[in-house]
Amino acid sequence: MTLIYLWRNRERPAPLSKRWIKVWAKRVFNLPGLLNITLRRLRYKFKGATVGKLVAFGRIDLHGTAKRLTVGERSFIGSNVNLALHEKIVIGNRVVINNNVQLLAGSHDTQDSAWQMIAKPIVIKDYAWVAYNAIILPGVTIGKGAVVGAGAVVSRAVPDYAVVVGNPAKIVGQRNRELSYSPVDLCAPFEAWLGTPTKQEMINEQINDNCIEDKLC
Ligand SMILES: CC(C)(COP(=O)(O)OP(=O)(O)OC[C@H]1O[C@@H](n2cnc3c(N)ncnc32)[C@H](O)[C@@H]1OP(=O)(O)O)[C@@H](O)C(=O)NCCC(=O)NCCS
Repeated sequence: MTLIYLWRNRERPAPLSKRWIKVWAKRVFNLPGLLNITLRRLRYKFKGATVGKLVAFGRIDLHGTAKRLTVGERSFIGSNVNLALHEKIVIGNRVVINNNVQLLAGSHDTQDSAWQMIAKPIVIKDYAWVAYNAIILPGVTIGKGAVVGAGAVVSRAVPDYAVVVGNPAKIVGQRNRELSYSPVDLCAPFEAWLGTPTKQEMINEQINDNCIEDKLC
């Protein structure tokens, strides 16, 4: 699916032009990365995760049953991301989870003599960006388009488009609400095929995706 999409939508510079040579050099250079991304997506699907189209996975640590993992379309999940799947982890469309992020859907009851497990789902909505080394605790929902700053520890729900930082994470700002990018298209192995999209191309593609989702076209 990913490879077919990239082939169909590939940038097509004039053969043997400077641009053509540069583009094909990039494609060859990024081929191992692209194959790894494609194989990882298939591996997690095979293990039972629900994974949408064009999702790019780094080398993640998946603990617990993969069936509890859902990832929407065009999301990017970096390397060394730790997914503790004691409960469901639901990641939306066009989400970015940077390297070293911990999504912890389980904890233990500090008041319980038997130290019982507490498992609560984590939901990360469309366009959210969870930056490097952040920790998301059980039961947390990260709102649409919200940003979790590098190193933040999030123990409470984050509203749509809020920017939160620190431990415990607190709101320090609001994000632009007009979001139209596809993070996977911007990662090197994809960009080598698609070229760098203009802002207008990203907006058009988002409109197209929405109208396919809403069955309007
Ligand atoms: C969250 C982030 C996007 C905020 O950027 P921003 O909206 O431009 O915010 P600002 O830089 O104006 O910072 C706002 C305040 O929060 C603080 N702050 C920003 N990021 C912080 C962080 N990660 N942890 C703690 N405090 C942070 C700033 O010091 C500032 O505090 P002040 O108002 O007391 O001076 C950014 O700081 C961040 O963490 N980026 C992620 C980097 C990363 O992971 N990169 C790897 C992938 S590309």
